[in-house]
Amino acid sequence: MRFELPPYPYDLLDPYRLKATQHDGGVVDLSVGTPCDPPPQEAIRSLTESESERGYPPSIGSQEFRKSCQQWVKRCFDVDLDFERHIASCIGTKEFVVSAPTYLRLRTPDKDTVLYPEISYPSYAMGAHLSGCRAVPVKVDGKGQLILEELEPDDIERSLMLWVNYPSNPTGAIADLNAIADWGRSHDVPIFSDECYAEFVWGREPSTVLTSGLSGVVAVHSLSKRSNLAGIRVGFYAGDEDLVHWLKEVRKHSGKMVPGPVQAAASIAYSDDQHVEEQKLRYRNRLEFLQSCLKSLDIESELPQGSFYLWVHSGSIDAWDLVDRLASEVGALAAPGTFFGSSNHIRIAAVQPLEKLELISERLSP
Ligand SMILES: Cc1ncc(COP(=O)(O)O)c(C=O)c1O
Repeated sequence: MRFELPPYPYDLLDPYRLKATQHDGGVVDLSVGTPCDPPPQEAIRSLTESESERGYPPSIGSQEFRKSCQQWVKRCFDVDLDFERHIASCIGTKEFVVSAPTYLRLRTPDKDTVLYPEISYPSYAMGAHLSGCRAVPVKVDGKGQLILEELEPDDIERSLMLWVNYPSNPTGAIADLNAIADWGRSHDVPIFSDECYAEFVWGREPSTVLTSGLSGVVAVHSLSKRSNLAGIRVGFYAGDEDLVHWLKEVRKHSGKMVPGPVQAAASIAYSDDQHVEEQKLRYRNRLEFLQSCLKSLDIESELPQGSFYLWVHSGSIDAWDLVDRLASEVGALAAPGTFFGSSNHIRIAAVQPLEKLELISERLSP
């Protein structure tokens, strides 16, 4: 059967963007989770200084890059990895998320199913579709936790992988990744844990699936959010030696390479934590500010446990109507929960500086 490509979600926001733009000062775009703050300057400088432009870069990642990832994993999570056996680079994590099912299916052709949270970043399901797999959502409870007990045995049996994402985009929930890893091992389902928001948690330590042991688990990390480097496209995956080996070999054959200068910059970004501390504070302040703006509009919201999104119930109206209301009344553009699997939530990304967010509070005053 021919695959009908759905519209790209954010393209559907154009009419609401137009509405929001009518406000003096223009639209306050809180729809896409794209960072607006400065990346670490030393990393940016290294983009022109690495002298790695001429030759092909190693697909698996330079030693320097993988060592830097290894040291960061040790500092951040106190997990010991071997950079040769357990770590490899990816070109930002979206391409990894979307291509992993295709590559895993080559390894285990009798498995044809990708499990993913029913409320989630849309690329997990898209990766299943693009690889010709079945995309089977796992129910999520009101607290953003997976209800694995309700999965059908046949779906589990056929699964190539289970995607999890904590802190979650969009719900902001965090979860017990050790328990999920145990479930995966006992059902022979590899757990792929997308941890790109790992450090954006407050009053608690970042967590990774890797603390459960490496067997049957792969953690996926990105510099896009951590270091405001979404524009240079770089991340890494780490964990189970056999899975990492398979993926890095097949990715090498398919020409997936992070450009050399980007690997150099990434090594520097992963060796610094101070800029992440500063970024956490910015997000926290903006989330609180946005929460108070919503309150003035009689819209209740809770601060997330992690990530930089407010996941807001749309109350008695549906998600699109609330997107419309915010665009019309205060010129703010939010993403409807339908992009992530819920028709009665919206997602508000704290990705504009406070000066810009203040436009919202000014528009609130009569
Ligand atoms: C949960 C999640 N995973 C992966 C990505 C992709 O990030 P990148 O491809 O920039 O590494 C995003 C981006 O929004 C995301 O929210």
